[in-house]
Amino acid sequence: MTTSRTRVLLHPDFTVGTVDRRLFGSFVEHLGRAVYTGIHEPGHPTSDEHGFRRDVADLTRELGVTTVRYPGGNFVSNYRWEDAVGPVEQRKPFLDLAWRTVEPNLVGTDEFLQWAEREGIQPMMAVNLGTRGVEEAVALLEYCNGEAGTRWADLRIANGREKPYGVKLWCLGNEMDGPWQIGHKDAHEYGKLARNAGAAMKLVDPSIELVACGSSSMQMPTFGEWERTVLEYTYDLVDHISMHAYYEEVDGDRASFLGSGTAMDRFIERVVASADAVGAQRRSDKKITVSFDEWNVWYLTTRFPGEENLPIQRDAPRIIEDVYSGLDAVVVGDLLVTLLNHADRVPVACLAQLVNVIAPIMTEPAGEAWRQPTFHPFATTARLAQGEALDLRVTTPTITTKAQGEVPSVTAAATLADGAVALFLTNRSPEPVEVELAHPGAALGITEGWSMTADHEPAVVGPEHAAKVAEKHWGAFDVAGRVTAGGAAGPDADTAGSTTITLPPESWTALSGTLASS
Ligand code: AHR
Repeated sequence: MTTSRTRVLLHPDFTVGTVDRRLFGSFVEHLGRAVYTGIHEPGHPTSDEHGFRRDVADLTRELGVTTVRYPGGNFVSNYRWEDAVGPVEQRKPFLDLAWRTVEPNLVGTDEFLQWAEREGIQPMMAVNLGTRGVEEAVALLEYCNGEAGTRWADLRIANGREKPYGVKLWCLGNEMDGPWQIGHKDAHEYGKLARNAGAAMKLVDPSIELVACGSSSMQMPTFGEWERTVLEYTYDLVDHISMHAYYEEVDGDRASFLGSGTAMDRFIERVVASADAVGAQRRSDKKITVSFDEWNVWYLTTRFPGEENLPIQRDAPRIIEDVYSGLDAVVVGDLLVTLLNHADRVPVACLAQLVNVIAPIMTEPAGEAWRQPTFHPFATTARLAQGEALDLRVTTPTITTKAQGEVPSVTAAATLADGAVALFLTNRSPEPVEVELAHPGAALGITEGWSMTADHEPAVVGPEHAAKVAEKHWGAFDVAGRVTAGGAAGPDADTAGSTTITLPPESWTALSGTLASS
């Protein structure tokens, strides 16, 4: 049985914008086991001479992560970066109040930046604007990017790193609107501090890009007003405003959860509108873009006890190690559809986080590393989404949800690079859906596809569960069986202007092929 008609109209000439590779970023915070026994574990059978796990680095490459944000997160708001550089044996542990964990300072700025460099990852650093300010932010930037001959650059050189790291992307603090944030500030206090810190940082290195903190979520009572106030202080200085959003299934409300991509869509549109309103008032031609530097599925209200309820722990405790299902993976794929459709205004995004902490990659200390179900749609999108995002027109019935109201039953995004097309489609409905891909005046050929379907089984800790989900719910999309017109690539590509595909219920699908004006 199929639902009523869904049509996706695409043409190579209609585009949204270029897909910035930084859209496929992730995040490593000093939180739980993200760093220790996550990316770093000296003595692990796969560890390199620097103590970093090769198995995790290999999965990170396979995931297609381009950018990694570091060192937090809430952690950064009480961090003293100077305590974690120089000889490791002289570094002292400190009590991180954000996660109530003893931080051993074994991995610091140099270890992280050198790991990123070895793995071909662009780092995105955050400065502490919670307990600290302009002076420390400038010192860290000088430590990272300065040439020899000044105090902090010379300290880096003394610590064994001659060449500046050239870190381009800098976050001015983290979630400063959140009362849980150490050193939390109101919008005026933060706006002034961000402006002063950012202006001084640009004097050290004018080539950097700056991210001002936006709201921690759309549910924050200060949402909107926060963005407006912060940007009034920082508009001419910063490049991006941050967005953070986590989605979860609450009280078994599957339909609302499957509609999370629509919530993200509305959130982006509201933040962009808030930024543009500030720009319009200033008669500015500059456009502020979005750094969606934390997004994911996180069972925040249902499984997380809250930072303040965590006991003080040491030795990389297991904190926020959410186990994901096929359903979560479908939602992650759909959130990526939303991000691609905003390629013109969202150049940077970070799946939070990379390893162990609400992550696509999990590890056991001294043991194996594995892919969670959410790994697959991310890796596939990062691999296929190249070039320009196409401006699609989607006609589809809506689904009524409790949390999100009316949401489209099918969502779609597409990219095109030198004739190679990638299509990403989510069917949020519990029925199979026939989708007409209308491509008038263009030839479309679909060669390959991959699909993730949602499960109903409870998620269970461990690699066996992840393997079972992958085996049952993830795999090749049956192009021959499900593409009923067109479907061949190259000279046999369909030129009739219409190709029909059938999407499985509650699924996310990626298709690759060719698209060219005929
Ligand atoms: O990603 C986990 C936490 O979520 C981050 O530390 C914080 O910025 C957000 O609230």
